[in-house]
Amino acid sequence: MTAPDRDRRRVLFTPDGPALIQGPVELVLPDGKTICSDRFMVAICLCKRSRNYPLCDTSHRKRRRGDS
Ligand code: FES
Repeated sequence: MTAPDRDRRRVLFTPDGPALIQGPVELVLPDGKTICSDRFMVAICLCKRSRNYPLCDTSHRKRRRGDS
């Protein structure tokens, strides 16, 4: 059985960037900490370079040593 479309959240995986999730969302981290966001779209960091992890702070755009 599938959920009705109105209940279904879309998660968009971007190339080399965050996963974009339609908000509002509640994120539960491995340590039990909960982060809530009421934004229309929430960017979840997949590169783990964000200083605001698990939320993307665009650090994925910065070049790393050795990148051309
Ligand atoms: S995906 Fe944007 S900072 Fe990690």
